[in-house]
Amino acid sequence: MAKGMFITLEGGEGAGKSSQVRMLGEALTEKGHDVLLTREPGGTMGAEAIRKLLVEGPGGRWDGLTEALLHTAARRDHLVNAVWPAIDAGKIVISDRFSDSTLAYQGYAYGVDKDALLALYKSAIGDFKPNLTLILDLPVQAGLRRAAQRGGKETRYEAMGKEFHERVREGFQAVAKADPARCKVIDGTNDIDTIHREIMAEVSRILP
Ligand code: TMP
Repeated sequence: MAKGMFITLEGGEGAGKSSQVRMLGEALTEKGHDVLLTREPGGTMGAEAIRKLLVEGPGGRWDGLTEALLHTAARRDHLVNAVWPAIDAGKIVISDRFSDSTLAYQGYAYGVDKDALLALYKSAIGDFKPNLTLILDLPVQAGLRRAAQRGGKETRYEAMGKEFHERVREGFQAVAKADPARCKVIDGTNDIDTIHREIMAEVSRILP
């Protein structure tokens, strides 16, 4: 059976990832692909339970390394119970966030040692990585404004302050620079349809 694919969307708060994941999923389904849309932290029952611990409650609830461990535990559960079986079944899996978020948030923004994060990834996940990562880049203030309009209980990271989110943005830019074959930066200030067209152009390049 043909092996599937793993595409991840990354970016700071309010970058528009969730809408783009949905639009990309619909477009690929229309073209006849078998698609699984998912997200991190989350995507399985166990990982959604861990998500609640991470995105709700007071900011100082965990230190950076503890957070990285929690995100990694959620990630392994997500891969074992959802992503890897779907890829083996030939699906195109599209995830709203993946491990680049750990490097950007826990590494660049919290200051957890990046080599330690890479070693953690290697021991929990191994050599697996996305076929393509689309990084939606947006000025921090604009993203935080959009995220605030969403409301809801998942405000723990949004409340970290502008400096924190500037470091997140720098982190994603550094990730993209370090792995240009896998990562494409998309201008998140464009309108939703323009962004979708750019994403489709990148995805078309890697489709069989
Ligand atoms: P969301 O707002 O995109 O649903 O993601 C939930 C939050 O989790 C978001 O503020 C970023 C954060 N996060 C990390 O800090 N590290 C990670 O590894 C992941 C996947 C998400």
